[in-house]
Amino acid sequence: MKTSKVTFFVVALIVLSLLAACTPAAAPAQPAAPAQQQAAAPAKAAGAASCAPNCTYKDMVLCFPQLGAESDWRTANTASMKDTAQQLGIKQLIFSDAQQHQENQISAIRSCIQQGVNVIALPPVVETGWDAVLTEAKNANIPVIVVDRSVTADPSLYAAHLGSDMEIEGQRSAEQMNKLLPNGGTIVELSGTTGSGAAVGRAKGFREKLNPNIKIIDSQTGNFTRAEGKPVMEAFLKKYAGQIQGAFIHNDDMAIGAIEAMKAAGLKPGDLKVVSVDGTRGGFQAMVDGWIQADVECNPLLGPQVFDNALKLMNGVAVDKNQLTNESVFFPDKAQELLPTRKY
Ligand code: AHR
Repeated sequence: MKTSKVTFFVVALIVLSLLAACTPAAAPAQPAAPAQQQAAAPAKAAGAASCAPNCTYKDMVLCFPQLGAESDWRTANTASMKDTAQQLGIKQLIFSDAQQHQENQISAIRSCIQQGVNVIALPPVVETGWDAVLTEAKNANIPVIVVDRSVTADPSLYAAHLGSDMEIEGQRSAEQMNKLLPNGGTIVELSGTTGSGAAVGRAKGFREKLNPNIKIIDSQTGNFTRAEGKPVMEAFLKKYAGQIQGAFIHNDDMAIGAIEAMKAAGLKPGDLKVVSVDGTRGGFQAMVDGWIQADVECNPLLGPQVFDNALKLMNGVAVDKNQLTNESVFFPDKAQELLPTRKY
């Protein structure tokens, strides 16, 4: 009896230890997938949203830290973004107005990053100083589309740039000034916001193509506004009375302000040859009235293109890095006919 009990315990011990050997005590941590397996899995493109590749506009939260409301061009650009967002039925457009201050745009971007938006569309007020905040967006896996003006930041920090080639606009402006002053002359320049891609590019392009017999006697900023364009032209007309034959003005709003100053100084339409940029209704009216001799187009209606790119980025679809707007030049001879068709 004693021997059979001992035998039973010995057999039971052997069975139990065999069972223990076959059953793991605890589930081990998942081993890392072999390198080959990881590479074979489809890579999620940078910035793709969690709904990718099936995101729709209804999923989209887009941040648009607009740089300001300085001109008719800007008003049309804002309207294009807001109207398109509504038409497409996006989930949310986070809009802000930086009142032409870069620090306001940077704070708005940081707030959008915190809110976890899908895409940021940035119209930068100036070209430099974006590296830090663009890096923050990149680290948060939020793609940034640079809209309208350019930035000097490394292109790896943003997904795409959509907008005008400001240097070409400056070149087109110079070609018109060359035609308007075939025997040369002295001109002034009313420049846009200092350090902005639009002002830098237009000034550069203009100088590249301007005939050597046309001299730019002075250049001052009017910050792209009517209110500042007028006193700048007033000062030019006082300082260079009787010495200037033309003016290159970086946008229609400043041109309209400058025209007020020209009228007040007793000038008549055409006394100064004016080349302006934008092609707004106000610019067209000034051509009809004889004050602007050529208006170089800059198209603000970028909404549809921005949202199309944003959806592609959310779905992990590659987009072209540089997407330039196709533009032309307008002249007084067609201004009256085209004015009613202008959308901005
Ligand atoms: O960046 C585009 C420029 O900005 C437009 O020419 C001007 O009107 C606007 O304020």
